[in-house]
Amino acid sequence: MSTQYGRFPGARPRRLRTTPAMRRMVAETRLHPADLILPAFVREGASEPVPIASMPGVVQHTRDTLRKAAVEAVSAGVCGLMLYGVPEEKDAVGSGGTDPDGILQVAIRDVRSEVGDDLVIMSDLCLDEYTDHGHCGVLDARGRVDNDATLERYAEMARVQADAGVHVVAPSGMMDGQVRVIREALDGAGHQDVSVLAYTAKYASAFFGPFREAVASSLTGDRKTYQQDPANARESLRELALDVEEGADMVIVKPALPYLDILRQVADATDVPVAAYQVSGEYAMVEAAAANGWVDRDRIMMETLVGAKRAGANMILTYWATEAARQL
Ligand code: PBG
Repeated sequence: MSTQYGRFPGARPRRLRTTPAMRRMVAETRLHPADLILPAFVREGASEPVPIASMPGVVQHTRDTLRKAAVEAVSAGVCGLMLYGVPEEKDAVGSGGTDPDGILQVAIRDVRSEVGDDLVIMSDLCLDEYTDHGHCGVLDARGRVDNDATLERYAEMARVQADAGVHVVAPSGMMDGQVRVIREALDGAGHQDVSVLAYTAKYASAFFGPFREAVASSLTGDRKTYQQDPANARESLRELALDVEEGADMVIVKPALPYLDILRQVADATDVPVAAYQVSGEYAMVEAAAANGWVDRDRIMMETLVGAKRAGANMILTYWATEAARQL
């Protein structure tokens, strides 16, 4: 081999690991604050931020602390904010999600007036935060999630979120046809500039556990009839093809860490930007282990983020966004 000069071993990859400057120079993947998107929860009627026990360091914001978190994210260089509303009242059809004065819409207006276009303001477009049964859609007479009736609710949600001033809507409900219906609703309401960040590969994952506390979910049972089976990979490529064909501007793979293979396959198969979502359970596991002194929290934070980027993510949704951005 041409690299084998003189005495064995001639090829010494360790030469490129000798100093921090050398390692920096040859790094193939670089994290940048602008890769990071902060998910944030805002709770209707809250006068103090409410800590989320299963996600130490993450809170349900008041309208006021959400504005502050948005300003901090901007100053750290974070590129986007993904907003979730926690309503006071829930009902069977998730009325709070389409109320122009519902908490998410109010929060979008607050953040937009606070930071303008300095952050990409994104909103979760899904009914589970607003339904009393906790499912991502409306139910039919037999209690099953009704795909097509749900699409009508999503179209309405897209319109009110866009009217409130969001830059990007993120449909996370995994209903068939959701991207097309949302794109048409946005265009029909004059919101051609609002983009769709589609949850393309979203698995029925136990890693969403702490999120259920974060949005005070009332779900009993599971989401296995609409979210994907963790056993499947090719299915994600089918979901990707459908979403892009229906008009997705960007796509998400979620969760991140147990699905880096999916992230790589999706990134290789598409020319739209791909986001990885490092979900609540990924965050909680690291925080819990670090609190016990079992792992080095900051190193794991950076290693998991670099891992997602190396696997093909253009951007990463992470509850550590502001903190990681500051460290970079
Ligand atoms: C659905 C939604 C969920 C998450 C984001 N959007 C929960 C679910 O599908 O059960 C999970 C995010 C996380 O766990 O960090 N609106």
